[in-house]
Amino acid sequence: MTILVTGGAGYIGSHTALALLEAGYSVVVLDNLANASRESLARVEALAERTLTFVEGDIRDRGVLDRLLNEHEFSAVIHFAGLKAVGESVSQPLGYYENNVSGTVTLCQAMQAAGVFKLVFSSSATVYGDEHPMPLHEGLPTGKPTNPYGRSKLMVEEVLQDLAHSDTRWSIARLRYFNPVGAHESGQIGEDPQGIPNNLLPYVAQVAVGRRDCLAVYGSDYATPDGTGVRDYIHVMDLAEGHLCALNTLLNNKNDCYTWNLGTGQGYSVLEVIDAFERASGVTIPYRIESRRPGDVATCWSDPTLAERELVWKAKRDLTTMMVDTWRWQQRNPQGYR
Ligand code: NAD
Ligand code: UFG
Repeated sequence: MTILVTGGAGYIGSHTALALLEAGYSVVVLDNLANASRESLARVEALAERTLTFVEGDIRDRGVLDRLLNEHEFSAVIHFAGLKAVGESVSQPLGYYENNVSGTVTLCQAMQAAGVFKLVFSSSATVYGDEHPMPLHEGLPTGKPTNPYGRSKLMVEEVLQDLAHSDTRWSIARLRYFNPVGAHESGQIGEDPQGIPNNLLPYVAQVAVGRRDCLAVYGSDYATPDGTGVRDYIHVMDLAEGHLCALNTLLNNKNDCYTWNLGTGQGYSVLEVIDAFERASGVTIPYRIESRRPGDVATCWSDPTLAERELVWKAKRDLTTMMVDTWRWQQRNPQGYR
């Protein structure tokens, strides 16, 4: 079976491409390399000891999509391609709506024309907004994301719901990720942000490896046990395996529009993450407390039981493993893929 993976050269896409190859699927990656390097896929191929097909192209380009979908018999599409920097989305909303929303519409139009109706979509816990008590479960109404990135994810979720209702041939999984971290245990592939990292773990890892001086901890006055923000960190390989389970479910079940949280169900504070990283790496992380980052919520963690039951999937790697694998990747690749 052949799977089209959009955005497959990126962080989560490359780990999922590896899991797909190892599970015996053929993989075609479509990526415009806006936030990735071709090197990630060379390493995926080396780890899997199998080749994949890479096409440099854009999901907004209907011509490229039509050609690809006609050339291959895809069983499904796993759709990672998109822009993800929250702050940038505030200053460049049109770019985010064009890439994330229009790009997904163009992809679905091309899939429909080619008769490919199974789609796994990368959504985010951000669609829940900030009004619900923890843990977050799929039965809760979606809320009001605080930025254009979050709104683009919510818009796409709604587009996909409408699409599945309009035509029963569609089978769609909307996967709401919590906080993906870590790297493949080989240390060969991992997260390689361009410029200053927005997210906690890449920043911590770059401080540890000497690329940055000091971590800013955004807020110590939240209503949490130690005052810092609490998140549900999930190992990227657990996430990748969750995609394979979602894919299997789409391939073997009745057509529907499914929504599954992919998280661990366990929240950790920023200070707990720093402590776990220091213990895993043996490196002290200098940090200073700063004011809250606009748009941040105090707590965000999942109720993962629906995915556990319906996908027969459970995140199994603990916080220490997430830190050890992050550090191995960063230490072996201090400048990322460059
Ligand atoms: P990433 O930036 O590493 O990967 C996205 C990939 O898409 C990149 O390789 C980029 O070059 C490619 N891309 C972007 N726009 C494209 C376009 N128009 N056409 C073709 N390729 C394009 O990000 P990631 O962390 O791997 O995230 C993957 C998906 O998961 C994204 O949709 C993201 O919004 C979503 N997500 C990520 C997180 C997270 O914290 N990492 C959390 C929730 C959801
Ligand atoms: N944090 C710091 N210092 C940093 C970076 C982050 O203290 O340099 C803190 C944040 O304030 C937060 C926690 O670390 O308390 C996690 O922050 P991240 O930026 O790593 O992750 P977020 O939970 O803010 O954002 C993630 C994804 C977004 C997504 C959001 C909600 O990166 O794409 O979850 O799903 F929208």
